[in-house]
Amino acid sequence: MTQDELKQAVAKAAIAFVVEDEIVGVGTGSTANFFIDELATIKHKIKGAVASSEATAARLRGHGIPVYDLNDVTSMPVYIDGADEITEQGWMIKGGGAALTREKIVASVAKSFVCIADSSKLVNKLGKFPLPIEVIPMARESVIRALNSLGGEARLRVKDGMAVMTDNGNIIIDMLGLQIEDPVALEKTINNIVGVVTVGLFAAEGADVCLLGGPDGVTTLRF
Ligand code: A5P
Repeated sequence: MTQDELKQAVAKAAIAFVVEDEIVGVGTGSTANFFIDELATIKHKIKGAVASSEATAARLRGHGIPVYDLNDVTSMPVYIDGADEITEQGWMIKGGGAALTREKIVASVAKSFVCIADSSKLVNKLGKFPLPIEVIPMARESVIRALNSLGGEARLRVKDGMAVMTDNGNIIIDMLGLQIEDPVALEKTINNIVGVVTVGLFAAEGADVCLLGGPDGVTTLRF
């Protein structure tokens, strides 16, 4: 099975977690895109979706799925999204697609987080994938200095010679070379650096379920 086929398999399996006549929170990235395509097949059964990025909102609308403003939503049973890394405790690194802040916000409103990932994302310890951090642009250098003092190496995310801008008009700093022993503590520490908007560690509030796609099919992990 190719990685895309594994992503497609978990996206399909995630449909079982979508609650009829309710609003579903939808993540960002290639696995989430497969999920959106699956969601389109049952769109008449749901009220609509809340998107975690402009790209996701556009894909949902392209399928004719109503997209709600989070401020107009009081109940959201589930949020479904991919991850860059996930552990057996349900802790995750997210933000490879720069959507971490809106992902964390939408996930925080949903009752449960269902992570969909191919088995290459399962790790014993977080940190091999560079940890994304969304930062207010004027605090770039002060935040880089503060992050470097934690160990690892903080680098501005650049694409085509330009700093990557998030949907919120901020920059992304990626932390390389971290061995994350205590993700909950590190999440708190980085969140406390002035100028940081969001750290891509989802540990204090991790996943509730992970649908993991491997060569033998989809395994369900519950945390
Ligand atoms: C987007 O900002 C990320 O958090 C994604 O959820 C994560 O990068 C997983 O993306 P893929 O499904 O494309 O691997």
